Amino acid sequence: MSAHSDTLPKKYHDAVLRWQQQFLPDLDFLQQNWDKHFPKDPCFKLCAYREQGICGHIEVGDEAGKPKYQKACEMSPEQANHLLKAVKAQASTEFGSIQQHRLTLTRAQSEQDQFWVLRMMAEELRHGYQMLYLLLQDDWKSVVGQSGEEMVEEILSMKPGSHVLGAFNIDFDSFVDNIVFCALIDRVGKYQLTMQKVSAYQPMAESMPPMLREEAFHLAAGVIPLRRWMQEAARGDIYATPKAIQRTLNKWLPRGLEMFGDERGGASNIKMGFKDQTNQASLDQYYVEVTKMIRDLNLRYLRERLPNLDSERLDRVLSDLEGGSRSQDIEPDEILRQPAKGYFRRRGVHAYEMIGTDGRVYKDVLEYIGHLRHSLPESYLASNDFRHYLELLKKVVQGTITRDEAQKSSPQLSRVGGSCPCSKSVRWILPETA
Ligand SMILES: [Fe+2]
Ligand SMILES: [Fe+2]
Repeated sequence: MSAHSDTLPKKYHDAVLRWQQQFLPDLDFLQQNWDKHFPKDPCFKLCAYREQGICGHIEVGDEAGKPKYQKACEMSPEQANHLLKAVKAQASTEFGSIQQHRLTLTRAQSEQDQFWVLRMMAEELRHGYQMLYLLLQDDWKSVVGQSGEEMVEEILSMKPGSHVLGAFNIDFDSFVDNIVFCALIDRVGKYQLTMQKVSAYQPMAESMPPMLREEAFHLAAGVIPLRRWMQEAARGDIYATPKAIQRTLNKWLPRGLEMFGDERGGASNIKMGFKDQTNQASLDQYYVEVTKMIRDLNLRYLRERLPNLDSERLDRVLSDLEGGSRSQDIEPDEILRQPAKGYFRRRGVHAYEMIGTDGRVYKDVLEYIGHLRHSLPESYLASNDFRHYLELLKKVVQGTITRDEAQKSSPQLSRVGGSCPCSKSVRWILPETA
């Protein structure tokens, strides 16, 4: 299949370039050195793509079989609003991830790692551009009351701390964050884009395949350095310790799981024809995929430590270690473990439950805080994000607020007027319950 490329009207294209100069100033450097690092791939171009030849009929839900929508005004207001929320959230995550990655990009230990992350950031910029394209090439104002111009302003003026999804409001503290984020959070992106490939809104469906092809690279930008770090650690040649990787996995996996939305939801997406899976089904598949990734990392570590063992014996050593027993002079805490689904959650069915990395349920809040202290990165414990979580957790335990109220007290977007993209006219406020 092929894809057509298109650009935003000059005014908006220039607005994205101004944003890029502030948050991704190394884009020119990436393009100048592209052939050195990615000789087989065409150089990055800031544009929107529309895949040609995709299915023209609604694939799931109440209207399955009917032609897909070409225009927002053809949908019911409920559908249009639902879709718009998803497009805005997607745009917010794309731009938000660049703001996070830039904090620690220069701390990469190898030129290759740095260029791979830089390419990933450029592609996230293109994904954000693609979502703005969806907002601008249609007339949304007549359906939802907000013009494309206003929505673009809203998205480009977001700062870390103000993005729609929690994972994009958390600062990076080291380059381990860049890498684990690619391996875990971009993997959620892969699932979301795959589900949206069926979208009943044709321009959305056509946007997905090119984004997915780029997302595959983002996963590699995370997994390949992780493999190398585990192998280096096994040789005693340590750059990122398994302990640091473990704690960073613990920091990000709960946020990744929450990006699927509440486990009880997602049916309306299917009904309206926008996605082909519920939140729970996709979360479960994602979790299994992460299990496989962690198992592969552990086996690479063991293979390096025990080069004379065949794969069957390595599997047995891994099972012993996973079961908590020392094996072949290797301690159980040398390998990585996947945190339980309910660990350190603040959204969904497990929100503000006190569940440990191993699934153990804690009764005492101080004991649970102690567990979090020992399982999360030191630098993250000092963050505003973690303090906010702990404050809410304590209130939930004291019975001052319910778990549901705690969930809802994350920042929400509110327009407070103004039209200039530089005026910070979009503010984030805490709702009444906070
Ligand atoms: Fe993306
Ligand atoms: Fe990505």
